[in-house]
Formats: sequence, structure tokens, C-alpha cells
Amino acid sequence: MTRSHGGRSRGRNRPGVGRRDRYAGPRAAAARGESLVGTVIEVEVGSVAHGGFCVARHEGRVVFVRHTMPGERVRARVTEGGTENRFLRADAVEILTAAAERVDPRCRHAGPGGCGGCDWQHVSLPAQRELKAAVVEEQLRRLAGLERPVRVEALPGDDSGFHWRTRMEFAVGPDGRAGLRPHRSHAVLPITECPIAHPDLLTTDVLGQDWTGERALDVVVADSGTVVVPVPSGGSGPEITQLVAADRWSGELRLAARGFWQVHPSAAAALVDRVLGGLAAQRGERVLDLYAGVGLFALALADAVGASGAVHAVESDARAVADGMGNAVDRPWVSFRQARVEQAAATLPSADLVVLDPPRTGAGRAVIEAVCRLKPRAIAYVACDPAALARDLAYARDGGYVLADLTAYDLFPMTQHGSGRECRPAERGAPGGAGLAPPGRVRPFGHPALPGPETPPTDPPPPMTQHVECVALLQPAAPQRRD
Ligand SMILES: C[S@@+](CC[C@H](N)C(=O)[O-])C[C@H]1O[C@@H](n2cnc3c(N)ncnc32)[C@H](O)[C@@H]1O
Repeated sequence: MTRSHGGRSRGRNRPGVGRRDRYAGPRAAAARGESLVGTVIEVEVGSVAHGGFCVARHEGRVVFVRHTMPGERVRARVTEGGTENRFLRADAVEILTAAAERVDPRCRHAGPGGCGGCDWQHVSLPAQRELKAAVVEEQLRRLAGLERPVRVEALPGDDSGFHWRTRMEFAVGPDGRAGLRPHRSHAVLPITECPIAHPDLLTTDVLGQDWTGERALDVVVADSGTVVVPVPSGGSGPEITQLVAADRWSGELRLAARGFWQVHPSAAAALVDRVLGGLAAQRGERVLDLYAGVGLFALALADAVGASGAVHAVESDARAVADGMGNAVDRPWVSFRQARVEQAAATLPSADLVVLDPPRTGAGRAVIEAVCRLKPRAIAYVACDPAALARDLAYARDGGYVLADLTAYDLFPMTQHGSGRECRPAERGAPGGAGLAPPGRVRPFGHPALPGPETPPTDPPPPMTQHVECVALLQPAAPQRRD
């Protein structure tokens, strides 16, 4: 194990490792009227919503209930809201009618008042994936007008949904001890187990030490070893190495420990295989890799197009660009440009193939229009938010590109979010109600949908949904004449 101290925090645009500022569902309401916190109510649980909770109704109010699932009848204790609020939050504390897909959570810290890291340990893994698939289907329908069945696939080797988390941020409490945060709380919960964590992650003894003076600890299980980076004193951490052994490509990349990398150990290979298989790059083709990170797709595609081709990578983070250039040093036909993609959009070189792998807010209209104007033969869009993807697919259709194929992966079993991705959701204010934003909703088990937006929102902020990783392949709607 390596421990990194010293160095400066990189501040803006720092890819997170289990971010603390991740989306936590609709905003908290200041309790209006008389507080209802602590009141126990009985509700029928309806559809699942973004944020790891389900939607119920009680005496004219919408209640966002955690620790339950669609189709259940539960007693729920109100955790936020008052008599004048239109929305309440609550935790299911007694299950009166259990759904068939309910299981006992494996972790002793999962449950009301416990760790906020896992949202779905009480739901069987197949049912979790059905919930996530329904979210993707609904977003495609609502925002892109696309009716298509979606299956959320397990990553290769992930049979249990446990032991996958190779990156984790622990919070440090006032006593200097590290732990995890309960849902929507600044408290630090001491933990004794974390079944979603990679086994190497908890052998670091981060939980037994005094971290006074630090805000958090990032623990990263890399192929080069496990590192603990205190935040803020450890900066972006030491260099680590990650190996990718996909069916279609294998390689080695170096990056800063706190730089962006996939959290699930099988994720990078699965995404590379899908992108390479979908784009079918030919020798001599020109490729654009937008939101390139340290060059995962750029390197794999560079080897596919060969030295007679070209790969141009665009990435905003200076450290990632430096690491990416180092990773590509033996492939002089790869170039990196440090820029925000939206600023580089007007001057992108022409390309036969484009990869987009934006953060959670998606690429947005200007970037999608710029990409379509290049008239690439095919586009691979790697998305961590299905709503942003659906919105951008609608823009792409306006630009003459249609969805040819979509694969969805369960990169974050047991959780509703992907806090290890840099994909950071924008918290948004509520359309209509007491500071609480009704989230994107789905209708997974035949429950009636709540009313929702019928038209795609203007970018940048898409409605927030479950985290599901999708690889969408886009092709020209009609044969295109290239200039
Ligand atoms: C989801 S990560 C993907 C990285 C890489 N494709 C991979 O799979 O390892 C998104 C990347 O986009 C970068 N990024 C975020 N916003 C950006 C922007 N506006 N322009 C360029 N890069 C951006 C982040 O620094 C991050 O490296």
C-alpha cells in the first residue's frame, strides 16, 4: 500500500473518487408549517425515482420513500418536510406487504439511518437491473421519442453485485476517524464492513487511523497497488497503473490516483470492447475522442487505425492530458488537446469516427451539432446518465444521426448512482414545489407514472435519473456525401 501526502489539490474539474457532492435526489425542503419529521405514515409504494427512493402519495402529498420498492405497502417514518410541504421524504421502517423481489440486505449498515452508499441492497440483483432498464426506456421515450426495449447487462464476472468497488471516498469526522456518510447527512458513520468494496480496499486500515486535519480519504485499488490519498493534503495522489484486458484490445495506462478511472474492475474492458466492436475502425481512419480522460478509447482506437490513421483527443483536465500524452508516447499519430469540448467544437478536425464520453451533464446541443457537421461514418456515445443521452440523441437526430444500437451496463450494482464517475449531476431546483425537485420517474412494475416533462429540456441540465452506463452507436440517417 502506498500513502500519498503533500501536493496541492487540483480544485476545479477534479475527477472524484466517490464524490461527496453527488446528487442525492430532490432538494431538501425547509420544513414548512408544523414539522412532520418522525411521524409514521402508511403508504402504497409506486414507481421508482432517481435518488434511490420510490414515489408514494399520502394525504395529497408526494412522499419519496427509501428502503422500499415498487408494489410494497410500508410504514414509513418521515425524515424531512412539514404540514405545508407538497413533498416529504421518508424511510420505510416496517414492510407490511413485501415485493417478491425483496431480499435481506447483506450489509449490516444498509437500512434506515445507516450508510448512504447503497440504495438497493434490499432488492434482488435481477430486479435492480429491471428498475434501471425501465429508467433508460423511459428517458429514451420521453426525451428522444424512441420506443425500444432495454436490457441492463451485468459486467463480465459480476455474479453477485458485491466486491466491485475499487475506488471509494471515506469522510473524516471531527474525531479524525474515517467512515461513510448516512444518506443526506454530514455525520460520519463508523463502518465495520462494506460488501460492495473490493476486498483490498478495506485491508488498508484507513478505518483504524487518526486522520485529523484531513477532510476525506480516497482509497484506490489499482493494478499497480492500493493507494490511500488524504484529501486535501494528498493532492491528486501518486501515479498509478491500470491494465485493460479486453477481448479486442489490451493495454496499460498511467494516471493520477485521483484522476478519472472506472470504478468497477471489469468496466473499462467492457466499454472498450463495445466501442471498438461498434465502430469497426479501419486502417487509416481518422478518429476524434472527446472527453478523452487519459486516453482509454484514444489508445484502443489508435491501434485499430494504425500509423496511417490519426486520433485527436480532447480533454479539459491538464493532469489527464499530460498523462494521456505519456500513455500515447509510442503512438505519434495520437494528439491530445487540452480544452473544453464545447470551446474546441468549432475547430475540430474532420473525422471518420467520433467517441463522446461526457460527464453526467452530457455533451449538449452545440457539441452534438458540431460533431454531426463533421459527417463521421459512425459515432459512439458512452453515457453515464440516460436522460442526458436521450436529450443528446434527439439533437443528433436533428443533425442527421440515428441510434443504431444501444447497450446498457450495470456498472454500480446495489447503488442508484455512480459516485466514482466524474459524471456529476447538476442539482436542480424544483418545477413546482417547496424546493423539492420531482425527479425523473419510471414505471417499472406497472405502476402509474406521475406526470413529467413531455418535451426535452433545454441543455445543459437534463432531468436526473438512475445511473446506468450506456454505449449508444449512432449512424447517419441517410448516406452522406463527405466534402
Ligand atoms: C466520463 S470521463 C471519461 C474519460 C475517458 N473517456 C475514460 O473512459 O477513461 C469524462 C472526462 O471528461 C472530462 N471533461 C469534463 N468536462 C469536460 C469538458 N467540458 N470538455 C472536455 N473534457 C471534459 C473529465 O475531466 C473526464 O476526464
